[in-house]
Amino acid sequence: MNVLRGSMPHLVLDKISIHYDGQPAPAVERVSIDVAGDDFVVLVGRSGCGKTSLLNVAAGLVTPARGNATTDGRPITAPGSDRTVVFQNDALFPWLTARENVAFALRLRGVRPAERARRADELLALVKLGDAGDKRIWELSGGMRQRVGLARALAAEPQFLLLDEPLGALDALTRERMQTTLLDLWTASHAGVLMVTHGIEEALVLATRIVVLAPGPGRVVRSFEPGFSRRYAAGEGIRAIKADPAFAAARGELTDAIFEGEAA
Ligand SMILES: Nc1ncnc2c1ncn2[C@@H]1O[C@H](COP(=O)(O)OP(=O)(O)OP(=O)(O)O)[C@@H](O)[C@H]1O
Ligand SMILES: [Mg+2]
Repeated sequence: MNVLRGSMPHLVLDKISIHYDGQPAPAVERVSIDVAGDDFVVLVGRSGCGKTSLLNVAAGLVTPARGNATTDGRPITAPGSDRTVVFQNDALFPWLTARENVAFALRLRGVRPAERARRADELLALVKLGDAGDKRIWELSGGMRQRVGLARALAAEPQFLLLDEPLGALDALTRERMQTTLLDLWTASHAGVLMVTHGIEEALVLATRIVVLAPGPGRVVRSFEPGFSRRYAAGEGIRAIKADPAFAAARGELTDAIFEGEAA
């Protein structure tokens, strides 16, 4: 935990509206989200409510029509190495091996060639792909590719990790294991996380704050601070946390918030 709270980095989306060219209505209207350097903020909401669009603003890939996006008070105008993104559909180099994909991010950071392979293998081991370094991307399953994408994002040692459904292609069991892996990565990396998911339990397990969006246009309808991930970080087991009646209550509340106002 950073004791110098005043120096903690902040990623701030302030009253962001997004209006795509040629669209009659804005995709997102006046959404504000603040991600501190030790936060794990999760965006949830029905398809089309603007989750990916907001992540792309934070990444510097989409320019908002109105509002300010900043890190540490500086405007976000382009992608930067302080913020790395794992996309909904991964963007790995299919002809390279898993190790080479991760090493590529290390090269961009100026890590010496002799160090790269060793560090890449460490990162692959972190995402439970320790023995897949020599495999080419096209030889890996969708879930394995997502994990290579995570390892590559971590290689940049960013201040903020931007994750768009990073576990979406995983089977249920691997996904559950990867949730705790993600929490371990979050604790170890000291990076603030802004993540999108459709998983209700996943949001509750991972988030220090959940922001619920509704579509038409995309806007914030609720914000929760579930606190389960801080309990995990403090040493409590994930099974015990999920068995807590407070977890079931939170799940009901979050489900209601997501589907509130939806036409029957
Ligand atoms: N490049 C684009 N050009 C025009 N419209 C877009 C573009 N990208 C997204 N949109 C529109 O903006 C709205 C929000 O899309 P976005 O992808 O941000 O939603 P989402 O919440 O991520 O959805 P999902 O859960 O399906 O991934 C949608 O109506 C979508 O059609
Ligand atoms: Mg999306």
